[in-house]
Amino acid sequence: MIQNNDPILADMIAREAKRQDTEIELIASENYVSKDVLEANGSILTNKYAEGYAWKRYYWGCHIIDEIETLAIDRAKQLFDAEHVNVQPLSGSPANMAVYLGVLEPGDKVLWFSLDQGGHLTHGHPMNFSGILYENIPYFLNKETEEMDMDELERIAMESQPKMIIAGFSAYSRDLDWKRFREIADKCGAILMADIAHIAGLIAAGVIENPVPYCDVVTTTTHKTLRGPRGWMIMCKKKYAKAIDRAVFPWMQWGPHENLIAAKAVAFGEALKPEFKEYQLQVMKNADTIATCLQEKGFKIVSGGTSNHLMLVDTFVSYGVTGKQAEHALEVVGLSANKNMVPYDTRPPMNPSGIRIGTPAATTRGMGTQEMKEIADIFSQAIQNHDNEAHLETQRQRVLELCAKFPIYK
Ligand SMILES: Cc1ncc(COP(=O)(O)O)c(C=O)c1O
Repeated sequence: MIQNNDPILADMIAREAKRQDTEIELIASENYVSKDVLEANGSILTNKYAEGYAWKRYYWGCHIIDEIETLAIDRAKQLFDAEHVNVQPLSGSPANMAVYLGVLEPGDKVLWFSLDQGGHLTHGHPMNFSGILYENIPYFLNKETEEMDMDELERIAMESQPKMIIAGFSAYSRDLDWKRFREIADKCGAILMADIAHIAGLIAAGVIENPVPYCDVVTTTTHKTLRGPRGWMIMCKKKYAKAIDRAVFPWMQWGPHENLIAAKAVAFGEALKPEFKEYQLQVMKNADTIATCLQEKGFKIVSGGTSNHLMLVDTFVSYGVTGKQAEHALEVVGLSANKNMVPYDTRPPMNPSGIRIGTPAATTRGMGTQEMKEIADIFSQAIQNHDNEAHLETQRQRVLELCAKFPIYK
């Protein structure tokens, strides 16, 4: 249809589809949704305004929409063992903002995992609402182990007496000790919030520990490891349900995107199936395989490895190649990954020391440990020969061959 009616746009979509199909996606926050998720996302549900919550909307004609939203909520509750779920948040910053607005007063103290160590901007950075409206106190990794320093976190928490502690990251490859987070929050009388955007799929599949029972509030994206449409949800204890729901609507946003909510319901349905656990186990196995292979090839992996779907590779300390140079070489060969600061990085954010790699998308294509070994080798060759065009072209051919064997939408 678009092909006939809007060939200009159709051509752009076709070119993007080709790009996706002929590159290996190693950006840890990306994934490929199923055709069912795509279908719900592009359905006629986009036509309906439904401001408010299920069974108490402002507009007429929402009874089927109510069923859809309730289905998404019920499946999410089942997946995460959550007392209360709001599936309406459109994106990460507004979802996190709804929590801050709902449970805090402007100016309250929040303890957050520092951005340059692997935390996220929407948890307390001065460029974001969280850093503008609240007093933020960062916590850091242990410099030796490059893992979360819970004793230091406890010391900072007791000293600063925050109103809320937020646990969550976009570039940390180890498990968090949720029980200890809870104990520290209780000890200093803070609310405990987790942003599990990256690891939601691993948690839903039960392959890593579920923080929902330990936390007062948990936010998550639905489009990363959870493999749903672009969007978010908030889970919380019943005690906070009213405050969170009110903060999402009407404080933060108005008409919910019901096509996206339907697509979330589809993705949650998929995540409830046994195959989803197999998929997540493979994601972790694949990440571990790349980390091990890269270490054998002389690369430093932050914290010495990975316990989830991602890792940070210090290309600068390993081979004197900056994150920006590495990102460019990888782009040329068709491995899509992003430059990233490593903990205690001495280089600037726009040209840091490392590269972040994740395996959710490549695993969705059906790639396994054999392909990961090949990818690790291509990665290594590309970084070590980042300024050798002919060599990079040889690696590009290897990527194209791999992609041809694993089409995204068969
Ligand atoms: C931990 C974390 N929180 C929040 C966000 C923001 O999410 P979005 O891009 O959906 O706004 C991200 C994504 O970058 C993230 O990784």
